[in-house]
Amino acid sequence: MTHGKGRRRRPVRASLAALTALLPAAAGCAGGVTGTPGAAGVRDPYFPRLGNGGYDVRHYALTVAYDPATGRLDGTAEITARATRALSAFNLDLAGLTVRGATVDGDRASVRRAGHEVTLRPRTDLDDGAVFRTVVRYSGVPRTITDPDGSEEGWLRTADGAVALGEPTGSMAWFPGNHHPSDKATYTVTVTVPAGLQAVANGLPGRAVTREGRTTTTWRTAEPMASYLATLAVGRFDVTTTRTPAGLPVLTATDRTVTRRSADLLARLPGMLDWLTERFGPYPFSSAGVIVERPGDSSYALETQTRPVIPQDLLTAGTLVHELAHQWYGNSVSPASWRDMWLNEGFAQYAEWLYAEDFGGRPVQRSHEAAFAAPANWEFPPAAPPTAADVSGAPVYGRGAMVLHKLRQAVGDDVFFDLLRGWAAGRRHGNASTADFTAYVEERTGEDLTGLWDTWLYGRGRPDAP
Ligand code: TRP
Ligand code: ZN
Repeated sequence: MTHGKGRRRRPVRASLAALTALLPAAAGCAGGVTGTPGAAGVRDPYFPRLGNGGYDVRHYALTVAYDPATGRLDGTAEITARATRALSAFNLDLAGLTVRGATVDGDRASVRRAGHEVTLRPRTDLDDGAVFRTVVRYSGVPRTITDPDGSEEGWLRTADGAVALGEPTGSMAWFPGNHHPSDKATYTVTVTVPAGLQAVANGLPGRAVTREGRTTTTWRTAEPMASYLATLAVGRFDVTTTRTPAGLPVLTATDRTVTRRSADLLARLPGMLDWLTERFGPYPFSSAGVIVERPGDSSYALETQTRPVIPQDLLTAGTLVHELAHQWYGNSVSPASWRDMWLNEGFAQYAEWLYAEDFGGRPVQRSHEAAFAAPANWEFPPAAPPTAADVSGAPVYGRGAMVLHKLRQAVGDDVFFDLLRGWAAGRRHGNASTADFTAYVEERTGEDLTGLWDTWLYGRGRPDAP
């Protein structure tokens, strides 16, 4: 392995390396590769310190114990990652909580903390391409994070427990990691709660084991997941596991106080998955479901992977189909950065319009016209929210959906739905940007759609007609 062009070395190491280069080859100096510290962020346009450079996480094995009575969480995060260059140190994102200690490949690593950035320095440098295992022990009372737009995420205390919601930055409130959507990984979450409570996460559970007054369950997320889509809900739930006719496991957990009120809508979930599969192609994950919380436990729904979290007062057909549509658009095809949110929300909004039309509601054309008429949708272009407080603003949803409707008008139904399915298939379990999408559409259709993008996606003013 050699140093790539432009790869900087830390001065002290650099001079050491230069020195050893002058000496006859000595034991332990073969190669002489030295690392540099990984970046403290991946330069997201809205959250520049989110995520970290220099490595790629493959798997998180999280072991957490939570007690709602005290609000305390004790955790161990075992992170398997691959160095994308030689590293002398690297960062993890963690908000609040106390790091008790860390190892890298079994050796104690030094830990430095500055706000949300935890810097780990392994005893020896990591080679470019090396797969390494980091173990972080941590604990404390996880915090709720207030977003730039005023909404609450991170760790939310609920009526009978807690729920973790991570969009866009909240997952760092309950585990250390590379918390940018561009670094997806698989997950195993082993969670222990006082007996009598349950913990529900993404994916599928193993058998719950109760010992000495505490219940432990291990949940596995088999397909890559952006960390903002990880969830953990602690409380008293009615859990139902079924399968769709196609054999997909569907696990729903409803807060026991809202089970009856949720039943009619949840009965429609398998049918919605079928309908979405017809429109968008194969369901991208190996399980599905939903977590329904009490009104007030959260003020919004979130499309957490395989199992969206929805407070019962927001559980409508529209919300459910929206969060399920995100499993294709947002969760399987994830944004390259938080600037690309319309690729999540515009698509999920459009899925709501399509579903309404097919099930006795408003025709899509009318939804498009209503969105066109709403002043809030013209506050900024969907592909360029002005600030971090705007990444989930009205234009990202409403005008994002309008972009798709205009595209449909331009290319016709057959090509349009083929484009939607091809996008989900081609970028499955990956990440994509707005530029990736427009290039994909133009390549696949052979059309120059500059005018459409300029007006609907990037333009500031409202055009004359919908
Ligand atoms: N993604 C959620 C939805 O539409 C909404 C949401 C919750 C959100 N928190 C956010 C969007 C933070 C952007 C940023 O179902
Ligand atoms: Zn959404």
